[in-house]
Amino acid sequence: LSRTGFPWPDRPATLRPPADGSVALTEPAVMRSQGGLLRVELVAAPRETTIAGRPARVLTYNGTVPGQTWRARPGDRIEVLLRNELDMPTNLHTHGLLVSPRDNGDNPFINVDPGQTFEYRFDLPEDHPTGVFWYHPHRHGTVADQVFGGLYGALIVEGDEVPVSRERVLIVSDITLDRDGAIAPVSAPKVMMGREGDLVLVNGQVRPELTARPGERERWRVVNACTSRYLRLALPGQRLALLGIDGGHEPVAREVEQVLLAPGNRADLLVTTRSGTSELRSLGYDRGGMGMMMGGGDLSGPTTLATMVVSGDQAAAPGPVPERPADPDLRDRPLSDRREIAFTITMGGRMMGRGRRGSMVDLGFDGRAFDADRVDQQVAAGSVEEWTITNPTPMDHPFHLHVWPMQLVEDNGEPVSEPVWRDVINVPANGRVRTLVDFTHHPGRSVYHCHILDHEDAGMMAVIDTR
Ligand code: C2O
Ligand code: CU
Repeated sequence: LSRTGFPWPDRPATLRPPADGSVALTEPAVMRSQGGLLRVELVAAPRETTIAGRPARVLTYNGTVPGQTWRARPGDRIEVLLRNELDMPTNLHTHGLLVSPRDNGDNPFINVDPGQTFEYRFDLPEDHPTGVFWYHPHRHGTVADQVFGGLYGALIVEGDEVPVSRERVLIVSDITLDRDGAIAPVSAPKVMMGREGDLVLVNGQVRPELTARPGERERWRVVNACTSRYLRLALPGQRLALLGIDGGHEPVAREVEQVLLAPGNRADLLVTTRSGTSELRSLGYDRGGMGMMMGGGDLSGPTTLATMVVSGDQAAAPGPVPERPADPDLRDRPLSDRREIAFTITMGGRMMGRGRRGSMVDLGFDGRAFDADRVDQQVAAGSVEEWTITNPTPMDHPFHLHVWPMQLVEDNGEPVSEPVWRDVINVPANGRVRTLVDFTHHPGRSVYHCHILDHEDAGMMAVIDTR
């Protein structure tokens, strides 16, 4: 069952992020587009590091966890030369980018074998939404292992600047290491709820410390890169305002007490600082009643992610936050079609694929597990469709569609009046959501799936083709 037992190459350990709490938060290095082009050489490879003072053998992009932060602007081209130094196939997904799924674009069907390189090209449209996106592997069957192992990085589309004294990228992930520092393999019962790591990391660190002066305004780009853990973020003692989630924008920064991020979601936040010491916490989230039964234990329980120490002289007041243009509303466009899609868990009594011995359960959509050679949804390019996603299972599933943006119009029975855009929408246990999907651009073949990545690897993914 151990698919994470990769051999350990003999190489110098150059990655040494700070270990325990009370170390300053570090941030991944930044790669920025220049003259409309961001060119990245990206090596996926195992590496030795320390996490919480213990040796850890993790998976890295260019030697670090997380990988470098990419910054580009609408209209830019991103070229990525991916070299696979893992001992298993991989590939690359630019999560949330509205780019072509064809050829060497955001194509989840590409396979890059160990020792191979592949050149990706992503052309961001001129009207691409700004916000925080991310990149991670998407090779079906090993996505959860590779993301859990450390392969992820932030991707920021700039162009909606707000006056702030500091911008931070906070990538939250979790990991379980065994006694000699290897990534703990997932067990069959944990696949049912999706594994959650024992250690929760922010930029690869355990409980780092952030420091600031009072009166500052910071912009935080938060990525939930956990494979299964839900985050309900709160920062008691500080003022938190939401600029947007995924590729969606709040026209006016909205003060919030907490922000729920399902696996895959991102938040664009403003933090206005006050003197004192605060904890960045996840308050805990109940993602379904099967956790205990299936051996999951205390799933997505409350946890402290980081400490924030605000002290010193009052900082100069930053300028006002500009009002932003409202996001478009797909309800203004004619509807071409409606369809219903259901997350399904079938107790089929037949063995599930991929060597999960003993499992009698199939995860999928509409009763079928993923098959790359079958088209599950054929959509007319250029259309707008209404998709109702139902979840008759006893646990939450975050629904993620590649390439084509979704507008949430009904959230578990509640109509949503403002235009709310998401690329990951949580569908609660025994609940449903209604979305409008914009298929105007980027015809081609891609996927939708559960962003509990163990579920995706177990078959909770399907193929969509637009032409
Ligand atoms: Cu972030 Cu298809 O995934
Ligand atoms: Cu799921």
